[in-house]
Amino acid sequence: MTAITIIPASCKTSLATIRALLSFPDPSIKLTGIYRDLSKVPHDLLSHPQFTPLQGDIDDPSLELPPTDLLFHTTPNTYTDADVFDHAKRQTENVKAAILKSATVKKVVLMSTMGAQYSSGTGELKANHAAETTISTLPLSIQKVYVRCSWFMENWASELPNLLSDKPFFYSTISPADFPFPHIAVRDIGKTCAQELLSTEPPKSNPYIFELQGRSYSSNDVKKTFEELLGREVEMRVVPKEGLLDYYRQAFSEHVAREYTEMNLSFLEGGILHLNPEPTPGGEIRRGETELKEVLEGLLQGRV
Ligand SMILES: NC(=O)c1ccc[n+]([C@@H]2O[C@H](COP(=O)([O-])OP(=O)(O)OC[C@H]3O[C@@H](n4cnc5c(N)ncnc54)[C@H](OP(=O)(O)O)[C@@H]3O)[C@@H](O)[C@H]2O)c1
Repeated sequence: MTAITIIPASCKTSLATIRALLSFPDPSIKLTGIYRDLSKVPHDLLSHPQFTPLQGDIDDPSLELPPTDLLFHTTPNTYTDADVFDHAKRQTENVKAAILKSATVKKVVLMSTMGAQYSSGTGELKANHAAETTISTLPLSIQKVYVRCSWFMENWASELPNLLSDKPFFYSTISPADFPFPHIAVRDIGKTCAQELLSTEPPKSNPYIFELQGRSYSSNDVKKTFEELLGREVEMRVVPKEGLLDYYRQAFSEHVAREYTEMNLSFLEGGILHLNPEPTPGGEIRRGETELKEVLEGLLQGRV
Protein backbone atom coordinates (compact mmCIF):
# COMPACT_ATOMS: atom_id res chain seq x y z
CA MET A 1 0.00 0.00 0.00
CA THR A 2 1.18 3.58 -0.75
CA ALA A 3 -0.30 6.06 1.72
CA ILE A 4 -0.43 9.66 0.47
CA THR A 5 -1.66 12.70 2.39
CA ILE A 6 -2.79 15.93 0.71
CA ILE A 7 -2.74 18.99 2.97
CA PRO A 8 -4.61 21.29 2.67
CA ALA A 9 -6.89 19.28 0.37
CA SER A 10 -9.34 22.00 -0.70
CA CYS A 11 -6.85 24.06 -2.73
CA LYS A 12 -7.39 23.92 -6.51
CA THR A 13 -3.97 22.40 -7.07
CA SER A 14 -4.55 19.86 -4.26
CA LEU A 15 -7.79 18.69 -5.88
CA ALA A 16 -6.03 18.41 -9.26
CA THR A 17 -3.32 16.30 -7.62
CA ILE A 18 -5.93 14.08 -5.94
CA ARG A 19 -7.72 13.55 -9.25
CA ALA A 20 -4.45 12.79 -11.05
CA LEU A 21 -3.46 10.25 -8.36
CA LEU A 22 -6.86 8.54 -8.50
CA SER A 23 -6.56 8.23 -12.29
CA PHE A 24 -3.62 5.82 -11.86
CA PRO A 25 -4.98 2.28 -12.17
CA ASP A 26 -3.41 1.26 -8.87
CA PRO A 27 -5.79 0.30 -6.07
CA SER A 28 -2.86 0.13 -3.60
CA ILE A 29 -2.75 3.96 -3.58
CA LYS A 30 -4.63 5.20 -0.50
CA LEU A 31 -5.22 8.94 -0.19
CA THR A 32 -6.08 11.07 2.81
CA GLY A 33 -7.25 14.63 2.18
CA ILE A 34 -7.05 17.05 5.10
CA TYR A 35 -9.78 19.73 5.13
CA ARG A 36 -10.35 22.39 7.75
CA ASP A 37 -14.03 22.17 6.81
CA LEU A 38 -15.25 18.68 5.94
CA SER A 39 -18.36 20.07 4.24
CA LYS A 40 -16.00 21.14 1.39
CA VAL A 41 -15.11 17.55 0.36
CA PRO A 42 -16.28 17.05 -3.25
CA HIS A 43 -19.22 14.65 -3.39
CA ASP A 44 -17.58 12.07 -5.67
CA LEU A 45 -14.56 11.80 -3.37
CA LEU A 46 -16.73 11.04 -0.31
CA SER A 47 -17.66 7.67 -1.76
CA HIS A 48 -14.32 6.86 -3.41
CA PRO A 49 -12.84 3.64 -1.96
CA GLN A 50 -9.26 4.98 -2.16
CA PHE A 51 -9.99 8.35 -0.52
CA THR A 52 -10.44 9.30 3.14
CA PRO A 53 -11.20 12.88 4.22
CA LEU A 54 -9.93 14.04 7.62
CA GLN A 55 -10.46 17.26 9.54
CA GLY A 56 -7.34 19.38 10.09
CA ASP A 57 -6.27 23.01 9.96
CA ILE A 58 -2.74 24.07 9.00
CA ASP A 59 -3.14 27.02 11.40
CA ASP A 60 -3.29 24.52 14.28
CA PRO A 61 0.12 23.89 15.97
CA SER A 62 -1.21 20.55 17.29
CA LEU A 63 -2.02 19.36 13.75
CA GLU A 64 -1.60 15.60 13.30
CA LEU A 65 -1.14 13.46 10.22
CA PRO A 66 -2.26 9.88 9.64
CA PRO A 67 0.60 7.42 8.95
CA THR A 68 1.68 8.41 5.44
CA ASP A 69 4.54 7.64 3.05
CA LEU A 70 4.17 10.65 0.78
CA LEU A 71 2.83 14.14 1.36
CA PHE A 72 1.61 16.98 -0.89
CA HIS A 73 1.55 20.49 0.56
CA THR A 74 0.98 24.04 -0.62
CA THR A 75 0.38 27.38 1.11
CA PRO A 76 -3.15 28.58 0.39
CA ASN A 77 -3.78 32.21 -0.46
CA THR A 78 -5.18 33.81 2.67
CA TYR A 79 -5.92 37.47 1.78
CA THR A 80 -5.40 38.57 5.40
CA ASP A 81 -3.44 41.53 6.76
CA ALA A 82 -0.90 39.21 8.38
CA ASP A 83 2.73 39.44 7.26
CA VAL A 84 2.89 37.17 4.19
CA PHE A 85 6.18 35.46 5.08
CA ASP A 86 5.46 35.02 8.82
CA HIS A 87 1.95 33.69 8.25
CA ALA A 88 3.04 31.07 5.71
CA LYS A 89 6.05 30.16 7.85
CA ARG A 90 3.78 29.49 10.87
CA GLN A 91 1.51 27.28 8.75
CA THR A 92 4.40 25.33 7.22
CA GLU A 93 6.03 24.96 10.66
CA ASN A 94 2.78 23.29 11.80
CA VAL A 95 2.90 20.92 8.83
CA LYS A 96 6.59 20.28 9.48
CA ALA A 97 5.93 19.46 13.17
CA ALA A 98 3.16 17.05 12.12
CA ILE A 99 5.53 15.37 9.62
CA LEU A 100 8.17 14.93 12.33
CA LYS A 101 5.59 13.56 14.80
CA SER A 102 4.23 11.06 12.29
CA ALA A 103 7.80 9.81 11.54
CA THR A 104 6.57 7.91 8.46
CA VAL A 105 6.91 10.50 5.67
CA LYS A 106 9.54 9.67 3.02
CA LYS A 107 8.82 12.42 0.49
CA VAL A 108 7.22 15.89 0.47
CA VAL A 109 6.06 17.45 -2.80
CA LEU A 110 5.52 21.18 -2.36
CA MET A 111 3.48 23.07 -4.97
CA SER A 112 5.41 26.35 -5.10
CA THR A 113 5.85 29.27 -7.44
CA MET A 114 8.22 30.94 -9.85
CA GLY A 115 10.26 33.39 -7.81
CA ALA A 116 10.09 31.36 -4.58
CA GLN A 117 13.89 31.70 -4.36
CA TYR A 118 13.54 35.39 -3.41
CA SER A 119 13.03 36.49 0.18
CA SER A 120 11.79 39.97 -0.77
CA GLY A 121 10.48 42.04 -3.66
CA THR A 122 7.89 39.45 -4.71
CA GLY A 123 4.83 40.32 -2.57
CA GLU A 124 2.47 37.40 -2.06
CA LEU A 125 5.06 34.97 -3.48
CA LYS A 126 7.04 35.33 -0.23
CA ALA A 127 4.58 32.76 1.22
CA ASN A 128 6.12 30.16 -1.08
CA HIS A 129 9.63 31.26 -0.09
CA ALA A 130 8.59 30.69 3.55
CA ALA A 131 7.20 27.24 2.71
CA GLU A 132 10.30 26.16 0.76
CA THR A 133 12.79 27.37 3.36
CA THR A 134 10.80 25.70 6.17
CA ILE A 135 10.38 22.34 4.40
CA SER A 136 14.12 22.46 3.59
CA THR A 137 14.88 22.18 7.33
CA LEU A 138 13.30 18.70 7.48
CA PRO A 139 15.86 15.87 7.85
CA LEU A 140 17.84 14.84 4.77
CA SER A 141 16.23 11.39 4.95
CA ILE A 142 13.01 13.01 3.70
CA GLN A 143 13.06 13.71 -0.05
CA LYS A 144 11.76 17.19 -0.95
CA VAL A 145 10.46 18.27 -4.36
CA TYR A 146 9.53 21.91 -5.08
CA VAL A 147 7.39 22.43 -8.17
CA ARG A 148 7.75 26.13 -9.06
CA CYS A 149 4.68 26.90 -11.13
CA SER A 150 4.06 29.85 -13.43
CA TRP A 151 0.81 31.89 -13.68
CA PHE A 152 -2.30 29.69 -13.46
CA MET A 153 -4.53 29.77 -16.56
CA GLU A 154 -7.45 29.50 -14.11
CA ASN A 155 -6.64 32.97 -12.72
CA TRP A 156 -8.73 34.32 -15.62
CA ALA A 157 -11.80 32.90 -13.83
CA SER A 158 -11.99 36.15 -11.84
CA GLU A 159 -13.05 37.90 -15.09
CA LEU A 160 -16.01 35.60 -15.81
CA PRO A 161 -18.73 38.02 -14.60
CA ASN A 162 -17.30 40.72 -16.92
CA LEU A 163 -16.95 38.33 -19.84
CA LEU A 164 -20.49 37.01 -19.48
CA SER A 165 -22.00 40.52 -19.28
CA ASP A 166 -23.95 42.16 -22.16
CA LYS A 167 -20.85 44.00 -23.40
CA PRO A 168 -18.05 41.51 -22.65
CA PHE A 169 -14.79 42.93 -21.31
CA PHE A 170 -11.95 41.86 -19.06
CA TYR A 171 -9.17 43.42 -17.02
CA SER A 172 -5.61 42.24 -17.42
CA THR A 173 -2.76 43.07 -15.06
CA ILE A 174 -0.23 41.70 -17.56
CA SER A 175 1.15 44.74 -19.36
CA PRO A 176 2.08 45.83 -21.96
CA ALA A 177 -0.61 44.03 -23.94
CA ASP A 178 1.90 42.18 -26.11
CA PHE A 179 4.09 40.98 -23.19
CA PRO A 180 4.22 37.16 -23.36
CA PHE A 181 4.01 35.47 -20.00
CA PRO A 182 4.20 31.73 -19.14
CA HIS A 183 0.89 30.17 -18.09
CA ILE A 184 0.22 26.70 -16.67
CA ALA A 185 -3.04 24.76 -16.32
CA VAL A 186 -3.94 23.54 -12.83
CA ARG A 187 -4.64 20.12 -14.35
CA ASP A 188 -1.00 19.92 -15.53
CA ILE A 189 0.17 20.93 -12.04
CA GLY A 190 -1.87 18.10 -10.53
CA LYS A 191 -0.49 15.60 -13.04
CA THR A 192 3.11 16.69 -12.42
CA CYS A 193 2.77 16.63 -8.62
CA ALA A 194 1.15 13.18 -8.78
CA GLN A 195 4.02 11.89 -10.95
CA GLU A 196 6.57 13.35 -8.54
CA LEU A 197 4.83 11.79 -5.52
CA LEU A 198 4.81 8.33 -7.12
CA SER A 199 8.21 8.54 -8.80
CA THR A 200 10.67 5.90 -7.59
CA GLU A 201 13.60 7.32 -9.57
CA PRO A 202 16.64 8.23 -7.49
CA PRO A 203 16.34 11.96 -6.63
CA LYS A 204 18.60 14.31 -8.64
CA SER A 205 19.11 16.43 -5.54
CA ASN A 206 17.48 17.10 -2.20
CA PRO A 207 15.59 19.38 -2.44
CA TYR A 208 14.88 18.71 -6.10
CA ILE A 209 13.52 21.92 -7.65
CA PHE A 210 12.14 22.63 -11.11
CA GLU A 211 9.99 25.21 -12.87
CA LEU A 212 6.65 24.13 -14.36
CA GLN A 213 5.34 26.21 -17.25
CA GLY A 214 3.02 25.85 -20.20
CA ARG A 215 3.07 28.14 -23.25
CA SER A 216 3.47 31.88 -22.90
CA TYR A 217 0.48 34.09 -23.69
CA SER A 218 0.16 37.87 -23.80
CA SER A 219 -2.96 39.84 -22.85
CA ASN A 220 -3.59 40.19 -26.60
CA ASP A 221 -3.55 36.38 -26.91
CA VAL A 222 -6.04 36.09 -24.04
CA LYS A 223 -8.36 38.64 -25.71
CA LYS A 224 -8.17 36.76 -29.03
CA THR A 225 -8.96 33.45 -27.32
CA PHE A 226 -11.95 34.87 -25.42
CA GLU A 227 -13.26 36.40 -28.67
CA GLU A 228 -12.95 33.08 -30.50
CA LEU A 229 -14.75 31.26 -27.71
CA LEU A 230 -17.52 33.84 -27.26
CA GLY A 231 -17.88 34.51 -30.98
CA ARG A 232 -17.98 38.27 -30.40
CA GLU A 233 -15.77 41.25 -29.69
CA VAL A 234 -14.34 41.50 -26.18
CA GLU A 235 -13.00 44.77 -24.78
CA MET A 236 -9.63 44.44 -23.03
CA ARG A 237 -8.77 46.80 -20.17
CA VAL A 238 -5.05 46.45 -19.52
CA VAL A 239 -4.08 47.86 -16.13
CA PRO A 240 -0.78 49.77 -16.52
CA LYS A 241 1.94 49.26 -13.92
CA GLU A 242 1.18 52.61 -12.27
CA GLY A 243 -2.52 51.66 -11.95
CA LEU A 244 -1.98 48.29 -10.27
CA LEU A 245 -2.22 49.48 -6.66
CA ASP A 246 -5.55 51.25 -7.23
CA TYR A 247 -6.80 48.23 -9.16
CA TYR A 248 -6.01 45.80 -6.32
CA ARG A 249 -7.37 48.27 -3.73
CA GLN A 250 -10.82 47.77 -5.25
CA ALA A 251 -10.82 44.12 -4.16
CA PHE A 252 -8.44 43.92 -1.20
CA SER A 253 -7.34 45.72 1.96
CA GLU A 254 -4.44 48.18 1.64
CA HIS A 255 -1.93 45.59 2.95
CA VAL A 256 -3.04 42.82 0.59
CA ALA A 257 -3.27 45.28 -2.35
CA ARG A 258 0.36 46.32 -1.76
CA GLU A 259 1.54 42.68 -1.64
CA TYR A 260 -0.33 41.85 -4.87
CA THR A 261 1.02 44.95 -6.58
CA GLU A 262 4.59 44.03 -5.62
CA MET A 263 4.03 40.45 -6.83
CA ASN A 264 2.55 41.64 -10.11
CA LEU A 265 5.38 44.12 -10.76
CA SER A 266 7.98 41.45 -9.96
CA PHE A 267 7.16 39.46 -13.09
CA LEU A 268 6.57 42.30 -15.57
CA GLU A 269 9.32 43.90 -17.66
CA GLY A 270 11.81 45.55 -15.31
CA GLY A 271 10.65 43.40 -12.36
CA ILE A 272 12.93 41.26 -10.21
CA LEU A 273 11.89 37.99 -11.88
CA HIS A 274 12.21 39.43 -15.35
CA LEU A 275 15.46 41.37 -15.02
CA ASN A 276 17.45 39.39 -12.54
CA PRO A 277 16.21 35.83 -12.46
CA GLU A 278 18.26 33.80 -10.02
CA PRO A 279 18.09 30.53 -11.88
CA THR A 280 16.40 27.62 -10.19
CA PRO A 281 19.21 25.18 -9.26
CA GLY A 282 19.76 22.94 -12.28
CA GLY A 283 17.74 25.35 -14.43
CA GLU A 284 15.18 22.65 -15.25
CA ILE A 285 11.93 23.75 -16.85
CA ARG A 286 9.14 21.19 -17.34
CA ARG A 287 6.32 21.90 -19.75
CA GLY A 288 2.59 21.42 -19.28
CA GLU A 289 0.61 20.35 -22.36
CA THR A 290 -2.74 22.04 -21.85
CA GLU A 291 -3.49 25.02 -24.10
CA LEU A 292 -5.08 28.20 -22.78
CA LYS A 293 -8.09 27.82 -25.09
CA GLU A 294 -9.08 24.52 -23.47
CA VAL A 295 -8.98 26.01 -19.96
CA LEU A 296 -10.81 29.22 -20.91
CA GLU A 297 -13.49 27.19 -22.68
CA GLY A 298 -13.94 25.12 -19.52
CA LEU A 299 -14.18 28.30 -17.43
CA LEU A 300 -16.81 29.83 -19.71
CA GLN A 301 -18.83 26.62 -19.64
CA GLY A 302 -18.57 26.35 -15.84
CA ARG A 303 -16.56 23.14 -16.04
CA VAL A 304 -13.47 24.40 -14.17
N1 LIG B 1 -2.44 31.70 -8.90
C1 LIG B 1 -1.26 31.60 -9.50
O1 LIG B 1 -1.05 32.03 -10.64
C2 LIG B 1 -0.13 30.90 -8.80
C3 LIG B 1 1.03 30.60 -9.49
C4 LIG B 1 2.06 29.90 -8.85
C5 LIG B 1 1.92 29.56 -7.52
N2 LIG B 1 0.77 29.91 -6.84
C6 LIG B 1 0.67 29.54 -5.43
O2 LIG B 1 -0.38 28.61 -5.27
C7 LIG B 1 -0.82 28.64 -3.91
C8 LIG B 1 -2.33 28.63 -3.91
O3 LIG B 1 -2.71 27.40 -4.50
P1 LIG B 1 -4.22 27.14 -4.94
O4 LIG B 1 -4.63 28.21 -5.91
O5 LIG B 1 -4.32 25.72 -5.32
O6 LIG B 1 -4.96 27.40 -3.55
P2 LIG B 1 -6.39 27.97 -3.35
O7 LIG B 1 -7.33 27.23 -4.26
O8 LIG B 1 -6.36 29.45 -3.38
O9 LIG B 1 -6.61 27.50 -1.84
C9 LIG B 1 -7.70 27.96 -1.14
C10 LIG B 1 -8.15 26.85 -0.21
O10 LIG B 1 -7.22 26.73 0.87
C11 LIG B 1 -7.93 26.28 2.00
N3 LIG B 1 -7.33 26.78 3.25
C12 LIG B 1 -7.06 28.06 3.53
N4 LIG B 1 -6.54 28.15 4.77
C13 LIG B 1 -6.50 26.88 5.28
C14 LIG B 1 -6.10 26.32 6.51
N5 LIG B 1 -5.65 27.11 7.49
N6 LIG B 1 -6.18 25.00 6.70
C15 LIG B 1 -6.66 24.21 5.72
N7 LIG B 1 -7.10 24.68 4.52
C16 LIG B 1 -7.01 26.00 4.31
C17 LIG B 1 -9.32 26.88 1.84
O11 LIG B 1 -10.19 25.92 2.34
P3 LIG B 1 -11.73 26.14 2.68
O12 LIG B 1 -12.38 25.44 1.55
O13 LIG B 1 -11.88 25.48 3.99
O14 LIG B 1 -11.98 27.62 2.72
C18 LIG B 1 -9.48 27.19 0.36
O15 LIG B 1 -10.43 26.38 -0.29
C19 LIG B 1 -0.24 29.92 -3.31
O16 LIG B 1 0.86 29.53 -2.51
C20 LIG B 1 0.26 30.69 -4.54
O17 LIG B 1 1.37 31.51 -4.23
C21 LIG B 1 -0.26 30.54 -7.45
